[in-house]
Amino acid sequence: MQDLDSIVSQALSEFDSIHEAAHLEQAKARYLGKSGVVTERLKTLGGLPPDARKEAGALINQAKQRLEQALEARRAALKQAALEAKLREEALDVTLPGRGLGLGGLHPVTRTLDRIEAIFRSTGFEVADGPEIETDFHNFTALNTPENHPARSMHDTFYIEGNAGVLLRTHTSPIQVRYMQAHVARHRAQMDAGQTMPAIKIIAPGRVYRVDSDATHSPMFHQVEGLWIAEDVSFAGLKGVFTDFLRQFFEKPNMRTRFRPSFFPFTEPSAEIDMSCVFCDDGDGPKGCRVCSHTGWLEIAGSGMVHPNVLAHCGIDAERYIGFAFGMGPDRLTMLRYGVNDLRLFFDGDLRFLSQFR
Ligand code: DAH
Repeated sequence: MQDLDSIVSQALSEFDSIHEAAHLEQAKARYLGKSGVVTERLKTLGGLPPDARKEAGALINQAKQRLEQALEARRAALKQAALEAKLREEALDVTLPGRGLGLGGLHPVTRTLDRIEAIFRSTGFEVADGPEIETDFHNFTALNTPENHPARSMHDTFYIEGNAGVLLRTHTSPIQVRYMQAHVARHRAQMDAGQTMPAIKIIAPGRVYRVDSDATHSPMFHQVEGLWIAEDVSFAGLKGVFTDFLRQFFEKPNMRTRFRPSFFPFTEPSAEIDMSCVFCDDGDGPKGCRVCSHTGWLEIAGSGMVHPNVLAHCGIDAERYIGFAFGMGPDRLTMLRYGVNDLRLFFDGDLRFLSQFR
């Protein structure tokens, strides 16, 4: 029969080699369980003479106690090890720099719109607004755009399915119409009494939509409309106001502008406004470069004297009042101001690009 000491030392070394609590309890059962090695040994006591039985019993009990103590110590050690492993696994390095709050910023086009509004406000213009989902009447008809005008073809206008006469505005010009109508309604009594209509002097920034998409066209883009109507507004005024605006916007006091005859249904006469190229005009006229296709000029707005038919549609006496209007593309102004060559970058929502303007 194996002697008790060797059983004990075998058990102790077995316990020490175990690294899982469940295995430890299984080992315990092998020694101290109902039919464990030590328990079996107790059962043999009955066959011994009384003196020997007492001595042997005491030794077996001692052995049992040693094993119990060893088990207890091993359980505690395993528990501690498990705790340490868990702490290691979930360790936080509190000395690492924090993630911080991501700093937001204004979109470059928003910055441009803010800048345009500030410049025009400083010379007495109000900022007006209008809906992006427009009626055919405001977007076209009231703006003297006949039924068969190419701007009306499905080719560049987003129509609203199942809603005849409703569309996504293709320009900010319908805001002119809405503003003039509201203005006339507001001053109806005064005007009926023969008093002069207060001047209309607004800009109207906003999103507009066309079926068009490439490096310089986005199906959604921005425009800023301008409108000044009074008894004594002139084309010379238009030239002065717009040239002054561009000089302030680009901080180039010697920037030149050029008004080229053009056609818009809602103005007569109409002009395309070009500005001298911001990249190659250093104050004494443009030299020509890649940005301006070596012409020295950049097309920046449409403009003209408001057509009498438009005034009439809005209830304004075209014999008494006269005005100018313009419409420009602030996305283009933003590209030129920041030297960005692909319009789509503004609307892709890529923070690596946008965060450069914070
Ligand atoms: N609405 C025109 C366009 O989208 C731009 C424009 C031209 C606006 C002449 C005007 C204007 O107010 O007078 O292309």
